[in-house]
Amino acid sequence: MTCNPRHRAVAAPVNEVDRADALRVARAFFERMATRRSIRDYTTRPVDPELIRLAIATANTAPSGANRQPWHFVVVSDPDRKQHIRDGAEQEERAFYSSASAGEWLAALEPLGTDWRKPHLTDAPFLIVVFEVHRGPSGEKAYYLKESVGIAVGLLLASLHHAGLATLTHTPSPMRFLNAILDRPSSEKPFLVIPVGYAAGDASVPDIAKKSPEDVTDWR
Ligand SMILES: Cc1cc2nc3c(=O)[nH]c(=O)nc-3n(C[C@H](O)[C@H](O)[C@H](O)COP(=O)(O)O)c2cc1C
Repeated sequence: MTCNPRHRAVAAPVNEVDRADALRVARAFFERMATRRSIRDYTTRPVDPELIRLAIATANTAPSGANRQPWHFVVVSDPDRKQHIRDGAEQEERAFYSSASAGEWLAALEPLGTDWRKPHLTDAPFLIVVFEVHRGPSGEKAYYLKESVGIAVGLLLASLHHAGLATLTHTPSPMRFLNAILDRPSSEKPFLVIPVGYAAGDASVPDIAKKSPEDVTDWR
């Protein structure tokens, strides 16, 4: 195929699903994923850390630009650090929710009923803080950084949901305060904070309309 001495090849992994079973498997996966919602109210019920490890292992299988895998996950369960993160996030969110220049954005958030308070950041047993890695340990550059990290987080969320866990994709903005709290280098940039736990018994979600698959697809 190629004369490049740095290119080696192995057989592609087998991914075989019985043809008669493929529709059932795909439909079951869709139906399961359709029950995922962003959860903002958590119980303090403990979570098996192995579920977090498996979800990160799943995320780490994601394709990435030039195979750089430009992501780093910091799993936070220490109550002091969670409180520190909540304090930092609420400080930024207070400024955001009272900012005159964020009018259009705040209007878009109105149906969600969110405000500056972020109790999920201390109630959820785990926070997974995802960092974009702009340069690897030996200075190697990342390519298609946001696309790669976004795909990895999609797999992470799917795995956690499949294991019966609730999540929220949370983005205090700006998030640089997370580098200091979590001892990450300046070559990494916070991407998302994901509380992970079990939904509170009385948790509710906003009643918002979703586009149908037909709305978001063209077949040519
Ligand atoms: C990149 C991204 C950032 C988000 N940031 C926040 C956030 O900071 N706070 C929050 O409460 N929800 C946040 N959300 C959750 C969205 O509001 C939510 O996904 C959307 O309203 C659809 O609801 P659903 O996830 O329940 O289907 C974010 C979602 C994404 C994908």
